[in-house]
Amino acid sequence: MTMSTSTPQDSPQTAHASHNIDTLQKRGKTFPPPPEFAANAIADAGLYEKARADRLGFWAEQAREILDWQKPFESVLDWSNPPFARWFADGELNVAYNCLDRHVLAGNGDRVAIHWEGEPGDSRTFTYAELTEKVKRAANVLEGLGIGAGDRVAIYLPMIPEAVISMLAVARIGAVHSVVFGGFSAESLRTRIDDAEAKLVITADGGWRKGKVFPLKPTVDTALGGEPSSVEHVLVVRRGENEIEWTDERDVWWHDAMDGADEEHEARGFEAEQPLYILYTSGTTGKPKGILHTSGGYLTQVAFTHRTVFDLHPETDVYWCTADVGWVTGHSYVVYGPLANGATQVMYEGTPDTPHPGRWWEIIQKYGVTIFYAAPTAIRSFMKLGREIPDAFDLSSLRVLGSVGEPINPEAWNWYRNVIGGGRTPIVDTWWQTETGAMMISPLPGVTATKPGSAQVPLPGISVDVRDDDGNPVPFGGGGLLVVTEPWPSMLRGIWGDPDRFVETYWEKFANVPGGPLYFAGDGARRDEDGDIWLLGRVDDVMNVSGHRLSTAEIESSLVSHPFVAEAAVVGASDETTGQAVVAFVILRADQAEAVSAEDASAILRHHVGQQIGAIARPRTIFVVTELPKTRSGKIMRRLLRDVAEGREIGDTTTLADTQVMQIISERLAQK
Ligand code: PRX
Repeated sequence: MTMSTSTPQDSPQTAHASHNIDTLQKRGKTFPPPPEFAANAIADAGLYEKARADRLGFWAEQAREILDWQKPFESVLDWSNPPFARWFADGELNVAYNCLDRHVLAGNGDRVAIHWEGEPGDSRTFTYAELTEKVKRAANVLEGLGIGAGDRVAIYLPMIPEAVISMLAVARIGAVHSVVFGGFSAESLRTRIDDAEAKLVITADGGWRKGKVFPLKPTVDTALGGEPSSVEHVLVVRRGENEIEWTDERDVWWHDAMDGADEEHEARGFEAEQPLYILYTSGTTGKPKGILHTSGGYLTQVAFTHRTVFDLHPETDVYWCTADVGWVTGHSYVVYGPLANGATQVMYEGTPDTPHPGRWWEIIQKYGVTIFYAAPTAIRSFMKLGREIPDAFDLSSLRVLGSVGEPINPEAWNWYRNVIGGGRTPIVDTWWQTETGAMMISPLPGVTATKPGSAQVPLPGISVDVRDDDGNPVPFGGGGLLVVTEPWPSMLRGIWGDPDRFVETYWEKFANVPGGPLYFAGDGARRDEDGDIWLLGRVDDVMNVSGHRLSTAEIESSLVSHPFVAEAAVVGASDETTGQAVVAFVILRADQAEAVSAEDASAILRHHVGQQIGAIARPRTIFVVTELPKTRSGKIMRRLLRDVAEGREIGDTTTLADTQVMQIISERLAQK
């Protein structure tokens, strides 16, 4: 398979970001670490030296220091069969034990693990001792339902403590979870259940969002209706109190099962390469990829980065990552990283603006949050609302702010630092992906002089580079493609059930280049004159909407599955708040074109995509057109559609089969 990649020079974000780089370089604006911060920082510059001198020794030391092993490892990295890596392969550990029991055994059982805040205002607190007991019970419940090591369990829950408890219970018995974001549709859930052949689904009756209960169990019922599936049981947490239907032989109430379960459960050691979870993410084709992560290397890197990048002092810090556990950020930095480190954290069920637009800042004030991790989209939305909202709350407890999921523009970075961080907090802009499992590029607070808009430097023990399309290193000041040049502990181990796709997607492009095989991340990047890295957005057909990954191909196939649609093309257009927005161009079938107005067709199709994939994938705009711009070989020229979607002058059309088509499209759209 050949991969279609365009160089980042093609992408509109590139132009925008390079402009920022140039202005910044002129200003030379960086923020050196405050001396008082540096004096107590977990990280020190020596970490880079150490990792550079002996990368594998460095990771082995982290794995030994940070984690408890039931059988110590001797082998650090087995890279004899690239790109299939094995880290710490002869060691054994239990992931849940590392996140729970050992903190209790060390005398920290009374430390709060989770301050949970429900959207309607209810709250629950779990100490490490309490959370450990719950997870032990849940592990017994799972075993009682016939789940054993290696079995897959789908988790389709709102942001409630049971989501964390379920994930850890699955990990404790060596089973494999596949968390499906609660906003995904029945069809998306079913595809993921089938691909992983899950035996059990853990869900809730419903969850709270924007002041209302949204149903989950009814969606699971729809997903499992029709064709028989691999699912034997559905375990249901009561949260929304909404009406649900019940299938006696299949459905089990969580609270009944937990009440009857033994509160003791032994945490057996599993091999470091025991699969821990599958998490589906959008790729360049219609079918989501089941990214596979395993145990020992993953936990090592998430715990190391969580501690070092956030400067975590577990005795005193109150940490809050706003991500949902349905995404990788929730896996690594709500569940595994913070709990492995014995952190106290806040977990919030709902949306930032319910019941009032200051809800997040109120939560920070209420719990005295010291470390806060959120996405640039959220920051930009708050910027639009004005500083009066956060200014009404006491945010003086904050000392580190993190950003993740998409490039953070310097304006948002500065606002974040000044308005939320009171002009004193270091900002860590962390670049990573579902596939990398943990942070890869980020400043270290207390060490790095931070630079607004740049994720800056690879973390100690991580080797990245910027290469041109042929794999040649790009000099400082130039743009190219981001690659990872050495295997890292939390790297994906594959795509569930599809080793060929794993090789093709990430490793084929730079298989035979100096230092190869290199991991191709799918992101454009540029190094400035200081060598700092600037991320420039995706170079493939993956969009990033509000920090969530969506595939153009997946939305296109959803659109053409509707009887109205003959052809569809989807592009990610720049959007001031969400980074990118989904914009679709559709050609209606001849028999429909007369029968339905363009407005009605757009509304129906937006609804259809929401039903098929989930609300996050609903196009912001659908243009009904009569032609799509294609090359002579029949490839849709998305670049030109992006020009239209972003209201720009249309670029070079000379390679089009029909050079008139863009003119016709833009004239039609202008007439509206
Ligand atoms: O394009 C990059 C962007 O998000 C993509 C990964 O998306 P996902 O797997 O959903 O994981 C998101 C959370 C880790 C990347 O390929 N991205 C992520 N973080 C940043 C970023 N782009 C720029 N700066 C970041 N800090």
